[in-house]
Amino acid sequence: MQVNEELTVKIEKLSNLGYGIAKHDGMVIFVENSCPGDTVKIKISKANKNYSNAKVIEIIEPSPHRIEPFCAMQKVCGACQLQFIDYDYQLELKRQIVEDAMRTIGNLDLEIKKPVPSPEQKEYRHKIQYPISQTKVSKRMLAGYYKPGTHEIVNIKHCPIQPKICDNIIDFIRDKSQEFGITGYNEKKHSGDLRHVVIRISATNDKCLVTLVVNATKSFEKLKNFAQCIFDNFKEVIGVCANYNSKRTNVILSSKTECLCGKDFVKERILEKTFKIGPNTFFQVNPKSAENIFKYVKEHIKNNFENPLLLDAYAGVTSFGICVADVCKKVVSVEENKDSVVLASEIIKNNDIKNIEIHNMDAAKYFQKEKRKFDVVILDPPRKGCTKESLDEAARLCKGQIIYVSCNPATLARDLKYLTTEKGCIVNSVQPFDMFCHTYHIENVAIISVSSQN
Ligand SMILES: C[S@@+](CC[C@H](N)C(=O)[O-])C[C@H]1O[C@@H](n2cnc3c(N)ncnc32)[C@H](O)[C@@H]1O
Repeated sequence: MQVNEELTVKIEKLSNLGYGIAKHDGMVIFVENSCPGDTVKIKISKANKNYSNAKVIEIIEPSPHRIEPFCAMQKVCGACQLQFIDYDYQLELKRQIVEDAMRTIGNLDLEIKKPVPSPEQKEYRHKIQYPISQTKVSKRMLAGYYKPGTHEIVNIKHCPIQPKICDNIIDFIRDKSQEFGITGYNEKKHSGDLRHVVIRISATNDKCLVTLVVNATKSFEKLKNFAQCIFDNFKEVIGVCANYNSKRTNVILSSKTECLCGKDFVKERILEKTFKIGPNTFFQVNPKSAENIFKYVKEHIKNNFENPLLLDAYAGVTSFGICVADVCKKVVSVEENKDSVVLASEIIKNNDIKNIEIHNMDAAKYFQKEKRKFDVVILDPPRKGCTKESLDEAARLCKGQIIYVSCNPATLARDLKYLTTEKGCIVNSVQPFDMFCHTYHIENVAIISVSSQN
């Protein structure tokens, strides 16, 4: 197969990264913006030894699940890979992605149920992180997502998967920055002021926390004035923070954040508990879908355990622990991010919860020194999953069930394989939840029974 070669193919299924998969002469082709069931004419954009990549140049026969995307930018922006597929079929395709990962990576023959849909399919995303740059000549500020596979910013004026207020704040920042002498970041030269704008919007009261990520080590006059202007112009903005990130890095936030105006948190109400979310603390981007997961986990614990001792690891602001504390004897939480742990103790106090103990540590290190045995261990690691050491220790510490929450089916399947083959665990179920509609991402909750041998 050669670059620029044109072929007509039928799309058979969806890959775990949201590409349509077609086969030609035994070669796998990943086709952008295509849907299983489509017959399409494609042009090869990249030819590798074992597979090729291609773009659609003509839809010959569309899949019956193709719909008109509701965002005009869908093809260029790259954030909503599946928006041209009807929502019900998106869920079915994600179910298949999870089932495939369990079978091929996890060696697990599990029947996966359809994902629990997101309660909202538009304006569901309550955290945005826009990279910023500026045009070469007119120095106009650009803000949006990167074009797929590049660091070229698509200047987004309206994004329908985020609350409308985000468009207004971003527009304001784009327009007013020049007036305040704030420049957009140039990644190649590592110059300019503003690198990213991060907005966290409360799904409970619509208040917004704006964080300006700047290429600086401390605050400066222009930045303070700019922050004040944003704060004064939007009644929805509860606070404006600066995050100082002067390193040449792709990591968005450094650990140094300062509140320049107002408050440095928004509040979120989940399962009758009030949470605070700061600029540097993890909280799910789709709070209403997250609430479905917390409810599911709480119900499972309530129905299967009596007054359990529970370990909430990779806890963030102890979201799971706080939601399930009233059906547990005691919750012990472990999180390595200091800001999250500080906020967690405030949240626990404000909600008058008395049975949570929190530790600011690396999970695996904490597990090693823990002597108690837990009825339930919740693991909710980042996308890369758990280390073997932390799985070994989690299995040792657990005398009942591990509840593994994951945003990456591939690493979940890998870790489940390790737990079943090396630790004698049994995977009872894997339930997907759609937190990230119109993207290929999918959250899963796996319930695992731990062998008493560990
Ligand atoms: C996917 S988030 C889950 C947070 C929380 N369970 C929630 O639902 O809001 C993963 C969390 O793990 C934390 N983390 C990452 N690596 C860790 C480690 N080695 N030990 C402890 N916590 C870690 C991150 O700071 C982050 O808060």
